[in-house]
Amino acid sequence: MAAQINPSILSADFARLADEAEAVKGADWLHVDVMDNHFVPNLTLGVPIVESLSRATDTPLDCHLMIEDPDRWAPQYVEAGAGSVTFHAEAAAAPVRLAREIRAKGARASMALKPATPIEPYEDLLPELDMLLIMTVEPGFGGQAFLDIMLPKIRRTRELISKHGLQMWLQVDGGVSAETIERCAEAGADVFVAGSAVYGTEDPAAAVRGLRAQAERVAAGAARACGH
Ligand code: DX5
Ligand code: ZN
Repeated sequence: MAAQINPSILSADFARLADEAEAVKGADWLHVDVMDNHFVPNLTLGVPIVESLSRATDTPLDCHLMIEDPDRWAPQYVEAGAGSVTFHAEAAAAPVRLAREIRAKGARASMALKPATPIEPYEDLLPELDMLLIMTVEPGFGGQAFLDIMLPKIRRTRELISKHGLQMWLQVDGGVSAETIERCAEAGADVFVAGSAVYGTEDPAAAVRGLRAQAERVAAGAARACGH
């Protein structure tokens, strides 16, 4: 699959979200960080803003729920127009039931792991998911330094996905930039969230193109090495 770049609007101007979405036209998805000030020590936005944003842009919304009780709230983000909804493994009471509900409502179902949460206990759940998100910073804030120690977890997750013959996507989020994206791609990630590395630049659309080119170069090299 081609590399996908999902700019995170956490680093955008919240008073001009429609324009900020337009500024990254050509991005695969718009990454929307929902924080409740309980699961993480920060507060951002909720269902009404997702609803308005989904009407204001053609770019599909990738909602990353950093909230408690996603079992209760996640389905509302599908109804609000999100094309993909990610809940945290640490917060979900019934992740299989929740993933099935998100899919049944018509969105892609995704589960996120904080840095200290291992992938192995979730191996049997992978077929229930369309994407797995590996956090490469502690969730809560943009602009943090990439955690290199997450690379082995990305690699192990890619191996599990291959072992089970799954088509699911592997997303990384946190500190992804021109300096770190190639390491993530080499480890097996194929969906890249970038906040400050996109919106912190003069030309966000060009930043998206640059990141995608870097990730695709790595993927093409890996495919050549496998003889594809
Ligand atoms: C952090 C959020 C990220 C954040 C990434 O908790 O989940 O999506 O916006 O920002 P950068 O790319 O600046 O690390
Ligand atoms: Zn995020």
